[in-house]
Amino acid sequence: MLERTPAIESQLLDTRRAFDSVAVDYDGPRGNNVLIQRMRRAMWEAVRDELPPGSRLLDLGCGTGIDAAEFARCGYRVTATDWSPRMVERTRELASLAATHARIDARHIGIHQLDRIEGEFDGIYSDLGPLNCVPDLEAAAAECARLLRPGGKLFCSVIGRICPWEIGHYALRGRFRRAWVRAARGMTPVGMNRHTIWTRYYLPREFYRTFAEHFSLCGYRALGLFMPPPYLVDYYRRHQRWCDWLGRLDDRLGAVPLLRGMGDHFLIVMNARSR
Ligand SMILES: C[S@@+](CC[C@H](N)C(=O)[O-])C[C@H]1O[C@@H](n2cnc3c(N)ncnc32)[C@H](O)[C@@H]1O
Repeated sequence: MLERTPAIESQLLDTRRAFDSVAVDYDGPRGNNVLIQRMRRAMWEAVRDELPPGSRLLDLGCGTGIDAAEFARCGYRVTATDWSPRMVERTRELASLAATHARIDARHIGIHQLDRIEGEFDGIYSDLGPLNCVPDLEAAAAECARLLRPGGKLFCSVIGRICPWEIGHYALRGRFRRAWVRAARGMTPVGMNRHTIWTRYYLPREFYRTFAEHFSLCGYRALGLFMPPPYLVDYYRRHQRWCDWLGRLDDRLGAVPLLRGMGDHFLIVMNARSR
């Protein structure tokens, strides 16, 4: 287990401040970046394919609560957690608007604080990158194993290391350092809203290695490989038909060996080993 040095504590606080600063208008006016929604749907389908409604889910890094609200609407019971108190407020607000609010328990807990949670879950999910911000992923893996029932499922959507779109987009504009930012090893500072998010990028195999002691691998697939990444949504709008065709390529080829190791994100599903 990694010792929580003052430097690590300060990185965690930087990341929390960064997400607090964007929480009010995170997701845009209608939460409708179509490229994000596409990746989100992959997570929703993966969870629904593996676990029946009524199952108990833990959301790690719930953000504004869009996933928690969707799963509650489908009949799941969700404990939604985030390290940013403003994001937790957004999740509570969203939950209070829904008829299903009784199925969502939103809590201000970071992934590095999972020892504060008790109980047993059928599934744990973390959508669109919160696990990239965790300084000690090994400790998080052990906590996830503790919190899942034997045979329970872990679903992680993680920011990948090789995003061909990003490399091409920035290299063509001569921004070579930005093009290769995901090649960095260890926690890397990434700017957002004049704050810093500390992020670590992973290849799927690299990510799985950290979990292998407690989890077996069910599978993984690329998200946003042929489709442009969400920050290029304006490109998507200008070339919608072409991009929708690329999206169909993502659906067909995203799980093919070699290709599945690339993409803006990857979705990895693991099974808790019996204790
Ligand atoms: C890119 S957002 C994704 C949010 C949400 N899962 C979604 O799908 O919209 C990343 C989220 O991770 C949260 N986060 C960052 N570091 C975290 C940590 N150490 N523990 C828990 N949440 C964290 C942020 O506050 C933010 O809400």
